[in-house]
Amino acid sequence: MKITLSKDSLTAVAVDLLVVCVGGAKPAQDPNVKMLDAALDGMLIRYMKDQDFKAKVGSRLTVPGAGAIGAKRVLVLGTKSGALSPADCKSLAVRAARAGMERASLALVAPGAGPEALAAIAEGLVSGSYRYVEYLTAERRPKRALARVTVLVPRVSASDRRAVAQGVSLGECVNFARDLVNCPPNDLTATELAERARGAARKHGVRCQVYDRRGIERLNMPLLLAVNRGSAEEPRFVHMVYKPKGRGKVRKVVFVGKGLTFDSGGLCIKPGASMADMKCDMAGAAVTIATVIAAARLELPVEVHGVVGSTDNMTGGAAYRPGDVFPSRDGKTVEIVNTDAEGRLVLADALSYARELEPDYLVDHATLTGACMVALGNYRAALFATDDKLKTRYEKAAEAAGEAFWNLPLDPDLRDSLKSPIADLKHVGSRFGGTITAALFLKEFVGKAKWAHLDIAGPAFLEGAHGNMPKGGTGFGVATAVHFLRGL
Ligand code: BES
Ligand code: MN
Ligand code: ZN
Repeated sequence: MKITLSKDSLTAVAVDLLVVCVGGAKPAQDPNVKMLDAALDGMLIRYMKDQDFKAKVGSRLTVPGAGAIGAKRVLVLGTKSGALSPADCKSLAVRAARAGMERASLALVAPGAGPEALAAIAEGLVSGSYRYVEYLTAERRPKRALARVTVLVPRVSASDRRAVAQGVSLGECVNFARDLVNCPPNDLTATELAERARGAARKHGVRCQVYDRRGIERLNMPLLLAVNRGSAEEPRFVHMVYKPKGRGKVRKVVFVGKGLTFDSGGLCIKPGASMADMKCDMAGAAVTIATVIAAARLELPVEVHGVVGSTDNMTGGAAYRPGDVFPSRDGKTVEIVNTDAEGRLVLADALSYARELEPDYLVDHATLTGACMVALGNYRAALFATDDKLKTRYEKAAEAAGEAFWNLPLDPDLRDSLKSPIADLKHVGSRFGGTITAALFLKEFVGKAKWAHLDIAGPAFLEGAHGNMPKGGTGFGVATAVHFLRGL
């Protein structure tokens, strides 16, 4: 998408749709509304009164341009009164993009000023116009995508232009993660996921090492291999590295992602309804890959690694079973309880590997537990952290990105439920606090690392659009991760 900053007047700009955002108790006194209203011979404010328009989040009103102004129609989006944060600006841009999606051209009066607001607006415009159309043919294939958007601003500076370019890059990375999640599991195998990571890495100057089954054996990842046993597809392990150029000593952050391209539950098979959307079980991997690419595209002054363990969880004749015991990469033995708790096994080996990279911060994303959706609903992810500063940093980043997390405790009282009579650990603990016991299992494999675990089972994939997020794969987590890296 090409976004142009322009000083055009809102009455003159010649587009199919002009979007203006209005907040406060007296929308008729908003300067933009007054200017348009004057050009439209009082029609705008008359419409607002007739339609009982209240300027609040979610309200909207469309009026025709009727040849009196450059735009064919005007969409007024209500918002809250007072100053708008960059996250507010992003939401408005998402709504503007959605409204403009079926049109050839769109202009948006910038709801905020300065680089932060403009980056958020650009990100919102790009991510808001997302649709997954890869598998649509003939007349169902959309003819045009919103290719050009004009953002109206009082003045244009070089730093504003840079901010817009950065927002576009971030929006594209969010959309890249969504594409990975939405891709059907017959096409997005572990091999294909790794290929897509490699392709994006090559394009953006990121190092990317892909390990096949032999490579994974050599790396010593018995738990990833255990989960892969029931599959006809080879597993993959991916390690991406972005190193900033010419910055001397910088921080190192390692992201780890759960890359289950499909989770049938294995022998402890899921009921059909719970299995239906299980292509989304690689969303953590998608966030991880997209975040490394974003760091490279934004040239962030941080060394960023992306580590992904990928396979599907299937029921083939060699499938792993409840009762099996496997060693892990770091030597602890693990008794298998329920083959549907496969994610924590893959992550255990990936986290052991990641910890050996000696990161300043270690962060994993995983669609790990259904219990997380029971606890927090569909729109919020769980955040666990072994370090307070890391926790605070992540929460701040989430707020700036407009994504919702909730801190849960790594409650030591629940650790006992992971004790096994015959192995060092059981891999499933108490069902009560199931999100916490899963996190406690992972914690066994991170050593002393400053670690955050993000259970994104709820918001990674949605049945219907909500807030800024589209239906299907959402890319939830990418924007927060990038803000987190920015804040280091
Ligand atoms: N991938 C699922 C978790 C999940 C559920 C993600 C719904 C997204 C939406 C995970 O592998 C799983 O099956 N977890 C089990 C663990 C249980 C067997 C201890 C669960 O949550 O039921
Ligand atoms: Mn599972
Ligand atoms: Zn899973």
